[in-house]
Amino acid sequence: MPLRAAIRTIPDYPKKGILFRDITTLLGDAKAFRKAVDELVQPWAGAKIEKVAGMEARGFILGGAVAHQLSAGFVPIRKKGKLPHQTVSISYALEYGVDEMEMHVDAVAQGEKVILVDDLIATGGTAEGAIRLLQKMGANVVAACFVIDLPDLGGAKKIEALGVPVRTLVAFE
Ligand code: PRP
Ligand code: ADE
Repeated sequence: MPLRAAIRTIPDYPKKGILFRDITTLLGDAKAFRKAVDELVQPWAGAKIEKVAGMEARGFILGGAVAHQLSAGFVPIRKKGKLPHQTVSISYALEYGVDEMEMHVDAVAQGEKVILVDDLIATGGTAEGAIRLLQKMGANVVAACFVIDLPDLGGAKKIEALGVPVRTLVAFE
């Protein structure tokens, strides 16, 4: 089954006019989950990726599986106030307004090869914030990987313009 068919679309969630692309159906389907993780990992086999960074919340599920498969460490990037040790934070653009994300100051070492993983890229504001945070701490962010691209919102182009290659598996126009 193609990955696209495993993703459920919920109209008007969380508000009217939004077509919400729901990955819980993909995650609940063992074959689709494995296929998505295998496809995210595929370019990086043997690339000696040291850390996978995942964005709260859905990026934790996919990023954790990708990290395991690459024998890499995992770096959680969380919404403000959730991490217990000393953090570094950055504000990032949401569709409406701004929010802050954080990571631990010692989560990456200088020059470490990192890939960023999330379920979906829309405007790219979340991914841009995460990349800037990782780079601020000295990481070498070699790619950003997503199951879903919403190309009409321009996020992938925005991240490529930062010099970080983007890999996406399924596009919803
Ligand atoms: C969703 C998604 C991405 C982000 C993409 O997360 O999982 O992280 O939006 O949007 P962007 O490209 O426009 O920044 P959300 O902010 O809904 O948080 P959640 O995973 O905690 O529900
Ligand atoms: N995050 C931003 N836009 C989204 C959408 N349409 N579906 C699921 N998550 C999203």
